[in-house]
Amino acid sequence: MTYNDSFIRACRKQDVDRLPVWYMRQAGRYDPDYRKIKENYSLLEICLQPELAAEVTMMPVRKLGVDAAILYSDIMNPVASIGIDFDIVKNIGPVIANPIRSAADIERLRPIQVEQDLSHILETIQILDKELEVPLITFAGAPFTIASYLIEGRPSKNYIRTKTMMYSEPELWHALMRKLGDMVATYLRAHVQYGGKAFQLFDSWVGALSPRDFKTYVLPTIQYIFEQLQDLDVPKIYFPGVSSGELLPELRQLPVDVIGVDWRVSLTEARKRLDYKYAVQGNLDPYLLTGPSSLIHEQAKLIIDEGLQDPGYIFNLGHGLFPEASIDKLKELTDYVHEYSAKVLRQR
Ligand code: CP3
Repeated sequence: MTYNDSFIRACRKQDVDRLPVWYMRQAGRYDPDYRKIKENYSLLEICLQPELAAEVTMMPVRKLGVDAAILYSDIMNPVASIGIDFDIVKNIGPVIANPIRSAADIERLRPIQVEQDLSHILETIQILDKELEVPLITFAGAPFTIASYLIEGRPSKNYIRTKTMMYSEPELWHALMRKLGDMVATYLRAHVQYGGKAFQLFDSWVGALSPRDFKTYVLPTIQYIFEQLQDLDVPKIYFPGVSSGELLPELRQLPVDVIGVDWRVSLTEARKRLDYKYAVQGNLDPYLLTGPSSLIHEQAKLIIDEGLQDPGYIFNLGHGLFPEASIDKLKELTDYVHEYSAKVLRQR
């Protein structure tokens, strides 16, 4: 088989024969084989076994026929390397043993030491680099999103402690952002050096901020991270997460290739807000997958028609897959996107 580089080409706004597709959280509990593995191992235990982590990464590529793999890991994993004790608790999510509340808590955070701290994940990337016939996307959580877990101690609805630190102790906040910015830059650079072919920065919860606060308290660190990584010749994706449509105009100076778009804003509007600078990725409502196939395909078609209006489009969901999604519908959707987009592109 030949290497399928349609994902990389689309990130760079180059021509493709058919649209590339991948799904955020494509390795997960909707797959019965994944659930079987989870009966024996936790997420963190899987990540410590490079052969198994590589296998779990490849499962959705084989089953769904997607055009990119995303490394099996979690946005929380690198925080262990900077000295934070956490667990991923079933039906809750990340839980931090000692949440960050003071200047001393932030001072204690140490830099990542690549060879010592990241040996398992880097070995997983090396295995995947040999095995995969599609590009490997690696990822990190963005500083706001990670900070929200570190400060709240667990998933939050209103981010009250996070915002309290941001507004009331801005020096502490910026010190934390800078430490997490360095952590993310070191982590993603190592991924690329060991074989990652693209990376995505997940800022899942930053849509909780006003555009003004995003610009003041968060964007400088995002800008810093991507500037640190500018010499790496791989596509770079920023995903500003849930309800991020109003933040898009603020992203126009970011040195990235692709912006992930959530489903509350159309791709056409998103491109306009981004001044047509970037390739876009998205944005089917993942929960639409609970509906009938005919409706899923009808709405996918509308999104594809918009996506194909300008160069640089990658089909994806507007947020991650959820455990109840149907593997059969996902496979059908992937085939539909490939077939329909190939037909449109042939007619051009
Ligand atoms: O996309 C993939 O398939 C690669 C693996 C991946 C995981 N987490 C594995 C995982 C990725 C890309 C992530 C990113 C992640 N983790 C994000 C950003 C993406 C998003 O959805 O916005 C966030 C916010 C987290 C933090 C986190 N980890 C949450 C909120 C949860 C869910 C808790 C739950 O039980 O639903 C996790 C756990 C987690 N990370 C699971 C998986 C497959 C589910 C639990 C498990 O299988 O152990």
